[in-house]
Amino acid sequence: SSCHALKTVLGNGQKSSAEPITKGGNHMLSKLIVAMTLRMPKWFVRWVSRRYVAGSTLEDAVRVMQRLESENACFTVDVLGEEISTMDEANFFLEEYMRVMNAIVENDIDANLSIKPTAFGLLIDEKKGFENIESLVREAAVHDMFVRLDMEDHRVTTDTIQAVLKLHKIGLTNVGTVLQGRLHRTLNDVEEVEIALGAMADYRICKGIYLEPEDISYTSRSDIRKATNEAIKDALAKGAYVGIASHDQPVVDYSLKTLEELEMGPGQPDPRPNAGVARKGKGPGYEFQMLLGVCGPLRRKLAKKGHRTRVYIPYGEMWYEYSIRRLQENPTIGLQVAKAFLMPWSNRP
Ligand code: FDA
Repeated sequence: SSCHALKTVLGNGQKSSAEPITKGGNHMLSKLIVAMTLRMPKWFVRWVSRRYVAGSTLEDAVRVMQRLESENACFTVDVLGEEISTMDEANFFLEEYMRVMNAIVENDIDANLSIKPTAFGLLIDEKKGFENIESLVREAAVHDMFVRLDMEDHRVTTDTIQAVLKLHKIGLTNVGTVLQGRLHRTLNDVEEVEIALGAMADYRICKGIYLEPEDISYTSRSDIRKATNEAIKDALAKGAYVGIASHDQPVVDYSLKTLEELEMGPGQPDPRPNAGVARKGKGPGYEFQMLLGVCGPLRRKLAKKGHRTRVYIPYGEMWYEYSIRRLQENPTIGLQVAKAFLMPWSNRP
C-alpha cells in the first residue's frame, strides 16, 4: 500500500490523542495495510507515493505545477516535515517557505502557500511560533500572496484560529485558516470569525483528517459529510471566501447547488451583498480544492466548467517518515490509497 496521500493530507506528524474509529472488517484491513506498508522497501513506497507527492525538492514541486497549469489549475504548496521538537527546526520551515515564495514569483506560477502552524513552533513556544508565522505572512503580503494555515488536530484548533484573527488585527489580511466539518465546534467558529473579520473571512473547509474523540466530533461518514456541507453553506451565506476542499461527489454536488442558490458561479463577479473585495489569485467568492493525485477527473470537470480549481502540492525530503506516521495515525487513508493503487480506474490522478 502506500501512504502518501495521507501525508498530503497534512499535520506535522504530532500525535493526536484521538482514537481510531474504523470498524469491523475495514479496521482489520486498515491494520493490515499499515503492517504491510511498514515492511515494504522504501523504493516501493516511493514509487507509489509519486502520485501524491511532488517530490523531495522545491524544483520537483515547481515542475509538477508547471505541468498541471495546462489543466487550468492553480496551486497551494505544502512543505512536508517531521514532528519538530525545537525552535531551531521551525527555522527550517520558515526559510524553506521563503524559498517557495521566491520560486513561485520567479516562475510566475499561480500559487499560494499552505503551512502547518505547529511546524512553525506554535506548540513549543506560542509567542515565537506566532512571530515565525507573522514574518512569513508579512513577506507574502509584499508579493500579494495568500497564506493558508492548515488545521491540525484539536489541540491547536483554537490557537490556529486565534493566530489568524491576530494577524488580521495587525493589518495582515492575506491569511486564512481551515475549518473541519467533523468538529462540533465548527459552526460556532464560522460565527466567531465572521464577527471578527466580516467579509475578510477566508476559509478552506474540509471534512478533517484527524480522528478526533467522539465528544467533540462527528464520527460516522454520513454525519461528517452532512456537517461539512452545512459548514460550507453557512460560510458562503455569511459572505466568506470558501475553498471547498473535498473529493467526495455528494459534497461537491451539494456545494454546487448552494452556489447556484446564492447565484454564485464561474465567470461572473461574486454577487453576494455581504461579500468581500476580490483578491488576487482567488475565484468569485469560492474555489474548489483537491489533493495532488486524487480524483483528477472530477477536478478537471469542474475546471472545464470554469470553476477555479486549486491543487494541494506537497513536497519535501521527509516524505517517507511523514507518510508512514500519517498512515499509522489514520489507517483509513491507507484503504483509499490502496484502492487507488489496485483499482486505478476508480481514482485517476
Ligand atoms: P472522502 O474521504 O469520502 O473521499 C472521497 C473519495 O476521494 C474517496 O473515496 C477516494 O476515492 C478519494 N480520496 C480522498 N482522500 C484520498 C486520499 N488521501 N488518497 C487517495 N484517495 C483519496 N484535513 C485537515 O484536517 N486539515 C487540513 O488543513 C486539510 N487540508 C486539506 C486540503 C485539501 C486541498 C484537501 C482536498 C483536503 C484537506 N484535508 C485537510 C483533508 C480532508 O479533511 C479529508 O480528510 C480528505 O479530503 C478526504 O475527505 P473527502 O472530503 O475527500 O471525502
